[in-house]
Amino acid sequence: MHDHEPAAPSPSLFSWEFAADPYPSYAWLRENSPVHRTTLPSGVNAWLVTRYADARQALADARLSKNPVHHSERAHAKGKVGIPGERSADLMTHLLNIDPPDHTRLRRLVSKAFTPRRVAEFAPRVQALTDRLIDGFAGRGSADLIHEFAFPLPIYAICDLLGVPAEDQDDFRDWAGTMIRHGGGPRGGVARAVKRMRAYLLELIHRKRAALGDDLISGLIRASDHGEHLTENEAAAMAFILLFAGFETTVNLIGNGTYALLRDPGQRRVLTDALAAGETAVLDTGVEELLRYDGPVELATWRFATEPLTIGGRRIGTGEPVLVVLAAADRDPARFDRPDTLDLARRDNPHLGFGHGIHYCLGAPLARLEGRTALATLLTRLPDLQLAVPEGELRWRGGLIMRGLRELPVTFTPE
Ligand code: HEM
Repeated sequence: MHDHEPAAPSPSLFSWEFAADPYPSYAWLRENSPVHRTTLPSGVNAWLVTRYADARQALADARLSKNPVHHSERAHAKGKVGIPGERSADLMTHLLNIDPPDHTRLRRLVSKAFTPRRVAEFAPRVQALTDRLIDGFAGRGSADLIHEFAFPLPIYAICDLLGVPAEDQDDFRDWAGTMIRHGGGPRGGVARAVKRMRAYLLELIHRKRAALGDDLISGLIRASDHGEHLTENEAAAMAFILLFAGFETTVNLIGNGTYALLRDPGQRRVLTDALAAGETAVLDTGVEELLRYDGPVELATWRFATEPLTIGGRRIGTGEPVLVVLAAADRDPARFDRPDTLDLARRDNPHLGFGHGIHYCLGAPLARLEGRTALATLLTRLPDLQLAVPEGELRWRGGLIMRGLRELPVTFTPE
C-alpha cells in the first residue's frame, strides 16, 4: 500500500492532449498507479481504477453504491456528480442512480417491456432510418458524419421505439443537441432542455395511458411484476434514462467506430470484403472490437464506497467516489492480446464497454443493432469514404464519462 501518489502520467489527465489520445496516460496508470487518487477538473476527488481485473471486480462490488447520497463530498447537491440537469428536473430515481432492491424491481419491470425481441423486430426500421440519413448527404460528396449521421440516428431510433410521434421528434433532437453540446460544461441550457423533456415525457405517458399502443412507453405502463407497476414518475425517469443512456453512447459508437476504420485501411478492407461476400461474422466481432478499442463510455458512471474497502491494494474510505476507467481496462495487456491493435476478427474479447454486473447495459442489443447497421450501410454505400481533414485537427467533446468526436468531416464520390 502506498501513502503517496507516484509521479503523474503524461500527458497529464484531462488535459487537451490527453483528450486527443488518453491511452498512453492510461497505460502509465495501469503500470504505475492502477488505483489512482485524483482531483477531477470539477474539483471533486475520486479514485480511478484502470486494470481489467480490478475494474471488473469493482463493477460488480455491492459495497460500491450508485446512489449519490453516499458521496462524502455531497457534490451531487452542487450538480457536480451525475447527469447534467437531472437533479433540477427531479429525474433522479433511475437505474444508474439506485441499488438493490429498488434497482432489481425497476430493472425487472423495464426488462419486461424492453425485450431483445422488441429490438429484433425494430431492425427494418433502423435500416430505413440509416438509409434515409445517408440519402440526405450521399449526393453531395462530403458530410460531417457526427452531425448528419451518428447524432440523429440514435435519437430518431429511440424516439420511434418509445413511441414519440414523428412530428415531435425534432424537439427531442434539439433537446438532445443541447445536452450533448453542454454535457461537460455550464449547465444552464441543459437543465432547461431536461426540464422540457421531462414535461413532454410525463404528458406523453399520460396520453398513452388512455390509449395504449405497442410502443415501448405503452410497454412500460403495461409492465407489471407481482401486481406492481411503474408510477408515472418512474416511467418518465425510465424513458429519460433510456434516452440519455442510449443516445450519446450510440453517437460515439458510430463516430469512434467509423474513425477507427478510416484510420486503418487494412481492417476496413477486411470488413468491406466480408460484407461484399455476404458474410456478417466480422461485422459482429468487429462491433465488439470497436467497443473495446475506442469505446463510447470512457469511464463507468459514479460509484461510492458504502464502507471502507480495498481495490488493487489501495484503501478506499467510506463515501469516496470510485470511477472505473473502461477505456483503460479494455486495453490491459494482462487480459487482451495486442491490446492496442484493432483486430475486427478478435474472438477472445470480454470487453467492459457495456459495463459488467447488475448495471450491465440494458440497451446493448439495440446499440449493437444500430452500430452494425450504421457501419455496414455507410461503408457499403460510400466505399471510398475518407477523412476530409488531418487526424490532428479533429476535436473531442469534453466531459468526463463519454469519449466522442465533436465532428467527423469526410469526403467520398457522390452516389
Ligand atoms: C448502462 C454502455 C447504449 C441503456 C450502461 C453501462 C455502460 C453502457 C458502460 C453501465 C454503466 C455503469 O455501470 O456505470 C453503453 C454503450 C452503448 C450503450 C457503449 C452504445 C454503444 C445504450 C442504449 C440504451 C442504453 C441504446 C437504451 C436505449 C442503458 C441503461 C443502463 C445502461 C438503461 C443502466 C442499466 C442499469 O443501471 O441497470 N450502458 N450503452 N444503453 N445503458 Fe447503455
